[in-house]
Amino acid sequence: MKVAVLGAAGGIGQALSLLLKTQLPAGSELSLYDVAPVVPGVAVDLSHIPTAVKVAGYGADNLNDALAGADIVLIPAGMPRKPGMDRADLFNVNAGIIKTLAEGIVANCPKALVGIITNPVNGTVPIVAEVFKKAGTYDAGRVFGVTTLDVIRSEAFVAELKGLDVSKVKVPVIGGHSGTTILPLLSQVEGVEFTDEEVASLTHRIQNAGTEVVEAKAGGGSATLSMGAAAARFCMSLVKGLQGEEVIDYAYVEGDGSDAPFFAQPVRLGVNGVSEILPYGKLSAFEEKAKNDMLPTLKKDIQEGIDFING
Ligand SMILES: NC(=O)c1ccc[n+]([C@@H]2O[C@H](COP(=O)([O-])OP(=O)(O)OC[C@H]3O[C@@H](n4cnc5c(N)ncnc54)[C@H](O)[C@@H]3O)[C@@H](O)[C@H]2O)c1
Repeated sequence: MKVAVLGAAGGIGQALSLLLKTQLPAGSELSLYDVAPVVPGVAVDLSHIPTAVKVAGYGADNLNDALAGADIVLIPAGMPRKPGMDRADLFNVNAGIIKTLAEGIVANCPKALVGIITNPVNGTVPIVAEVFKKAGTYDAGRVFGVTTLDVIRSEAFVAELKGLDVSKVKVPVIGGHSGTTILPLLSQVEGVEFTDEEVASLTHRIQNAGTEVVEAKAGGGSATLSMGAAAARFCMSLVKGLQGEEVIDYAYVEGDGSDAPFFAQPVRLGVNGVSEILPYGKLSAFEEKAKNDMLPTLKKDIQEGIDFING
């Protein structure tokens, strides 16, 4: 199993790479790529952790070697938010980075499962899809926007509010990955009842949790450690699927388009990535309205990504 992390020297990249060094199956290869000159040092540092995962670092000129034969590519490369910015403000900088990296994947590992973390996820995932379509290598089941951070935040906040064992709390989160497009389905949390006020305040907190971190870091960046944990958890779902285990997880994927061309929803994972897009079940009246209200924003974000390649 070869896993490549593009943007591996960044805040997310380093946390994620550390977790993968300790969690990937024995015999795996971890390939770290970044344009920052520190990346070979990050690889050496990690290589001193005694696990049976081989680590190699690749600098700016070595994208091809970093990607050659990769089974999974995770992309946290690009600029994070500063206070006062929303994720859409990152589009102009990060769209070009994502396009270049997607072209690298086409050339070196067109069959890889690709998890995109770089914001704005609502638009960067369609960029990758369009680059792959142009090259004739697109397989919708292999391209994922990583929305796991919304899921783990929801688990943490629900457990905190209700005094529950967090390891047993499951919260479906659908839609996209910014502001109101993030839609936690609190009506589907098993064994828990929420008042209308709790639903409203918890939904708002989950949608704005990224901003909570951006403001607390006061100019020092956005979520990196929780995002590293989220991306590692999602990567391990992909790994298990590739190994033939049946796994269900949530991700932002191109589905049947009934809500929007790309939509975060439950998917069954297997040896070829998504084996089945699963229904997200019945929504409460609050959730149905929230979904209908956010769809125009999500569709606009998606179109911006498509237009960046085709416009
Ligand atoms: N999906 C999510 O839930 C989620 C959560 C938090 C942050 N993010 C996003 O993840 C991205 C990274 O955040 P961070 O805090 O790690 O930022 P960071 O600045 O700490 O790290 C980004 C890294 O990307 C590298 N980079 C820049 N251009 C590159 C290129 N062309 N090729 C390879 N590497 C390149 C930089 O050198 C840097 O090391 C941001 O866009 C951020 O908004 C997503």
